[in-house]
Amino acid sequence: MTRKTAKQPPLTGNHKRFVPSGSLKGKLSVPGDKSISHRALILSALAVGKSQITGLLEGEDVLATASALRAMGARIEKKGDVWTVHGVGVGGLMQPDCALEMGNSGTSTRLLIGLIASHAISATFVGDASLSKRPMGRVIDPLSDMGAQIQARQSSDYKACLPLTVNGTVPAMPLLYRLPVASAQVKSAILLAGLNTPGITRIVEPVLTRDHSETMLRGFGADVTVETDADGCRIISLTGEAELKPQKIKVPGDPSSAAFPVVAALIVPGSDIIVENVGINPTRAGLFDVLRQMGGDLTFKRKRVVGGEPVADLHVRHSTLRGIDVPGDIAPSMIDEFPVLFVAAALAEGTTSTSGLHELRVKESDRLTQMATGLRILGVDVAEKEDGLIINGNGGKQLQGGRTKPAIETALDHRIAMSFAVAGLMTKGGLTVDDMTPAQTSFPGFEKLLKGLAAA
Ligand code: S3P
Repeated sequence: MTRKTAKQPPLTGNHKRFVPSGSLKGKLSVPGDKSISHRALILSALAVGKSQITGLLEGEDVLATASALRAMGARIEKKGDVWTVHGVGVGGLMQPDCALEMGNSGTSTRLLIGLIASHAISATFVGDASLSKRPMGRVIDPLSDMGAQIQARQSSDYKACLPLTVNGTVPAMPLLYRLPVASAQVKSAILLAGLNTPGITRIVEPVLTRDHSETMLRGFGADVTVETDADGCRIISLTGEAELKPQKIKVPGDPSSAAFPVVAALIVPGSDIIVENVGINPTRAGLFDVLRQMGGDLTFKRKRVVGGEPVADLHVRHSTLRGIDVPGDIAPSMIDEFPVLFVAAALAEGTTSTSGLHELRVKESDRLTQMATGLRILGVDVAEKEDGLIINGNGGKQLQGGRTKPAIETALDHRIAMSFAVAGLMTKGGLTVDDMTPAQTSFPGFEKLLKGLAAA
């Protein structure tokens, strides 16, 4: 007699099974912060002279930024653990010979479009199927106001998507720009364009987003000031035609990557782990606050400052989690962590509701739909709203897995893939993730690390 199986699309060959494997124990560290790694390479390439970077994330996204900078004349090499960047100086980038391949990386794309906008060069950007669907109008609008000419493909959803070509301009015009969307990528694209622009470029930021660009620009010697106006908006002012001085940079571990082992330890009974050297910049650490509010036993140990960024070791123990209402205004400080928060919510007691998450629909995938669909496969009670999910948790029982369930679709999204890998540890019978290769974009070694924790 053959067993009846649910109908599912053919698997890619890159699918993986994740099964319960007991409590997680031990000390671990996660790869370098993705946002800081991109910025470390870009600002080093614009400094005059030799910068050195340790702890750089060697994921595909950051390597795409490195290749693009090399194509524009920066010498970038790696010896042992140290990346050395020989910068060309602000304004010194050269015309690339071929299209810049951005892979899956929205951060590389948006930041580099900004960088090129105020150089006398042109470049064409191409990317994978996920990146090619993402909106680029949000950077094209302000950079066009600065004088760049940008031609982009129009899609059925957005007026401007990849492939696109930027024709930079010199001199660009300084801009006063109020961010219409809470996006550190847009803010950073304008600041990078402002570096080679005469005068002062000003950005009004009504909702605080990650502030690595401001901190690092100052560290490289640029004149950046941040004030708060009467309405509580941040005003970031950058004096252009800056000369950046080379730096030695230590990149801390990425809180967005730490999120996966942290949630895994909270949900799997008996777990007790320490994640060392994790960035806890308040503009990034919203998930840790929310998990604590849900009853998570998560403490920061050995708090310190590394290269201008607050860092700690995270001690995490299995906890009984309770659902909460996650306030919309915390979203920017944990924007990449919602997929794995939804997994924690599925295993909490009671209801977790989220709102204000429109931006999740324009990430590497539509993360609200992908997460709701995958969680329903595991028997989770989820309601999808336009701007968030409402999840009725099961109180920490195992989710409904098993080989007859359809594979979870990742839609080329690393954070969807890793979130469901974590969920798999709390399923009866395990689950299949259809494609784990996207994890390479931000977390090389993810699967090995998860297995190692279970074996410790
Ligand atoms: C990033 C900003 C965020 C985040 C992305 C990295 C950055 O994007 O989702 O993973 O490094 O500036 P948005 O600016 O679109 O919110």
